[in-house]
Amino acid sequence: MPHADDRTWLIDTPNTTYVLALDDDDRLHGLHWGRRLNREQAADLPGLHAPRARPVFDGLDARLDLNPAAAFRYGQTGLQVRFADGTTELELRFTGAHRDGDELALGFEDRHYPLDVRTVYRTFPDTDVIERRVVLRNRGDDPVEIVRADSATWVLPRLDDYRLSQLHGSWGAEFQLTRTRLPYGETLIGSRRGITGHQSNPWLALDDGTAGEYSGRVWSVALAWSGTWRMTAERSTDDRVSVSIGFGHDPVAFALAPGETLETPASAGLCTDGGFSAGAAAWHDYVRGHVLAHPGEVRPVLYNSWEATGFDVSAGSQMKLAERAAALGCELFVMDDGWFGARVDDRAGLGDWTPNPDRFPDGLAPLIDHVHGLGMGFGIWVEPEMVNPDSDLYRAHPDWVYHRPHRRRSETRQQLVLNFARDDVREWAHEWLDRLLRDHGVDFVKWDMNRPFTEAGWPGAEHGDRLWIEHTRGYYAVLDRLRADHPRVRIETCASGGGRADLGVLARTDQVWTSDNTDAIDRIAIQEGFAQLYPAQVMGAWVTDSPNPFTRRAAPLDLRFHIAMTGALAVGGDLRRWTERDLSRAEALVAEYKRVRETVQLGRRYPLRAGTVQGVQFNRGADTAVVAWRLERRFGYPDPLLPLHGLDHGARYRDEATGRVRHGAVLAEHGLDLGLSEADPASTVIRLRRID
Ligand code: DGJ
Repeated sequence: MPHADDRTWLIDTPNTTYVLALDDDDRLHGLHWGRRLNREQAADLPGLHAPRARPVFDGLDARLDLNPAAAFRYGQTGLQVRFADGTTELELRFTGAHRDGDELALGFEDRHYPLDVRTVYRTFPDTDVIERRVVLRNRGDDPVEIVRADSATWVLPRLDDYRLSQLHGSWGAEFQLTRTRLPYGETLIGSRRGITGHQSNPWLALDDGTAGEYSGRVWSVALAWSGTWRMTAERSTDDRVSVSIGFGHDPVAFALAPGETLETPASAGLCTDGGFSAGAAAWHDYVRGHVLAHPGEVRPVLYNSWEATGFDVSAGSQMKLAERAAALGCELFVMDDGWFGARVDDRAGLGDWTPNPDRFPDGLAPLIDHVHGLGMGFGIWVEPEMVNPDSDLYRAHPDWVYHRPHRRRSETRQQLVLNFARDDVREWAHEWLDRLLRDHGVDFVKWDMNRPFTEAGWPGAEHGDRLWIEHTRGYYAVLDRLRADHPRVRIETCASGGGRADLGVLARTDQVWTSDNTDAIDRIAIQEGFAQLYPAQVMGAWVTDSPNPFTRRAAPLDLRFHIAMTGALAVGGDLRRWTERDLSRAEALVAEYKRVRETVQLGRRYPLRAGTVQGVQFNRGADTAVVAWRLERRFGYPDPLLPLHGLDHGARYRDEATGRVRHGAVLAEHGLDLGLSEADPASTVIRLRRID
C-alpha cells in the first residue's frame, strides 16, 4: 500500500520498499529500492539534499524516477516530446498525489505548455512486483509530438558493480540467457519489428555480479507490451544505474492530438533476495496471480500437426493423426497451417479464411466431430495479421497492408502485414474469427504471426507512425473481443515460435509456442531462458521426431519427453511413422506427465545442477517432481547425487514409484540418487511426496 505525504512516498510490497521523493525543483527521485523501510527510516535516506560534487558538467543523474528531457539531462530520458513551436525541454511542476487503494498517482504539468504527466504505481498484497505506467494528456489546441513515453525508469541503488542478465536470440534460438558486466554508458535492447521479437525479450535483471541461482539480491524488470519496445540501462561514470523501459522505438514519433490522453503499457519491477531462481519464481507467481486469465487451469496435453504434415493437410491425414494422438493420451488436437483458401504452400491463400474445398469438401465439421468423438478438444491455426499477395483478400484490398507509395512491398515468406491499426481491418478479422469459433466447436486457437514489419506506412493517415502502437492495440482488441464472446476458447500466442511472448500478450492468451526448434538438447537452454520470467504452465513444449527436423540431431524418446515435461507437454511428431514400441512408450510417458502436471505447471520451480547432471525440480504442497538428465558422462565417473531445494529438512519423502522413503535433510544436503542408465544421454522423472 503506497503511503504519501507532501513530497516523499513509500511504495511498500510485502518484502520491499521503493521510495520516491521530490527535490526543490519538483524532480522526482527514486531514493531506495530494496528491503522494507519505514517512514522514519526513509526520512534518513541520503541523497536528495546531499551536495553533488560535479552537478552540471556530467549532467548525469541516474536517480530520476521520472526523467524527462530537460536542461542538463544529457543521458537517457524516459519522456521526450516536441511542442508545436519546436521546444523539446520539459519543465515539470508537481500538481498533487492521489491514492486509490493500491495505486499511487503523482501528477505533474509543464510550467508553460498545456501538457499533463502522471506517473502511476501499483502494488499487490501477495507479490513484490511493482507496476508503473505513465499517462500523458494534451490539454492544448496544438498537437504534441511524442518522441518517447517510457512506462518506467527504474532506479537501482548504488552497487560496487553491475551485471546484466538478458534474453536474446533468433528464430529457433529464442530466450538465450546471458549474463555480462554492464558497461558504462547506455545499453539498449528492444525490438523495431512490430512484435516483441525473437532477438530480445522485454525482461532484464541486474545484480552486483555475485548473485547465484540461490543467493544474492536481484533487480529485474519487464514490459507488458507485444509491439516494438526498448529498454535502456544506463550506467553513469559515478556508478549509478537506471533502466528506462517503454513501447515504441527510434526514430518513430507520433502526435498526441489536442485533448488526447496517452496511457503507456505497464512496466513491472521486482527486487528479490535468494538469487536468480527466487526472482524467477516471484515472476511466475505474479504471472499466475495477476496476468493470466485462467491461472488455476493446467494446460492440456495437445497434439499439433505442423511437423507431421506441414502444408500437406487433408481431412483424412488429420483424422489419422488425431486417432494416434488420442491413443497416446493427448487431450487437444490442433490442426496447423494449410487448411484454408489456396494455402497448399506458403505462396498463396493467406487471408482467405474458408476451408480449402479440395481438402475439406464437407467443411471442417467432419474432422472436428471426429476429434471430439475421440475425446479430444479441437484447436486451429490462424495468422490473422498476414496476407499473401496471391489471395482474394489482397486482390480486393491492396491498401489494407502497410506500404509506402514509392517503395516496394518487400515480402518475407511471400506475405505482407495487414494494417491492424485500421478499424475496418480489425472488424474484418474479428468477423471471420468470430464466425469460425461460432460455427464450429473450436476449443483452442493458435494465433501465429510470421513476419516483421517493413515499409510500415499508412498512406492517407494523419499520423501514420501511430501504427506502431495502434497495431498492437488492434491485435489486443480483437483478442479481447473474441475472449469475451467465447470464454471457453483458449489461445496460444506464436510468432514463428517464441517471437511474441511478453506480459502483455499473456493477459490475453493462455500459452506460448516457445520455439520452432523442438530439439530436446537445444530446448534445455531455450526453456531455461523462458523460465526466467514465464511459468511452466505457459511454456508449450512438443515432443517431435528423431532426428529432429530443425537440427537433424537424434535424441532418445525418453529424453525428448522428459525435457518437454518441464513445461506444458505436447506432442508434434509424425505419429503415423512412429513404431509401435515408441507409441507405447510415449503413452506411458504422457500418463507419467499427467501425474506430475499440476506440480510442474503450478508449482515452484528450482533449477538443479550437480556436475554432469542437470534438472528441474517443482514443489507444490506435499508434492515434488524432479526431471533430471545427463547428456554426457565424463571418464566413466558415476553420476553425482542431485541436491534438491525447498524441502522440509525435518520431513520424510516417499519416492512414489519405488516406495523408498528419504529424509528431506539428506535430499537437500547430499542429494537424490537418480539411477540414470549408463548410456548417454540419460534422463528420468522422479515423484516424491512428503509423508510427515
Ligand atoms: C510458424 C509456427 O511457429 C509453426 O509452429 C507453424 O505454425 C508455422 N508457422 C505454420 O506456418
